[in-house]
Amino acid sequence: MAEPNVAQKAPYKVDVVAGKAYFWCACGQSKNQPFCDGSHKGTEFSPVKYEAMDTKSVFFCGCKHTAGRPMCDGSHKKL
Ligand code: FES
Ligand code: FES
Repeated sequence: MAEPNVAQKAPYKVDVVAGKAYFWCACGQSKNQPFCDGSHKGTEFSPVKYEAMDTKSVFFCGCKHTAGRPMCDGSHKKL
């Protein structure tokens, strides 16, 4: 398994909207973090879909090493 690029060693706070789908960048190469911009093409990575149930602020993983994709689980503290 290839190592993802660490986009940043901290989560991205995003205000999501109920009913909307988001595609989290798993590879860490996107220029539109924390979301996929297609830069993973040609790698073994693919984005992770997240569907917002509520309108609220959430924390997407920026380090790409979370065990709870696509959300930050605190793993960035160990990098
Ligand atoms: Fe990273 Fe698509 S750009 S998963
Ligand atoms: Fe990746 Fe927190 S930013 S686990």
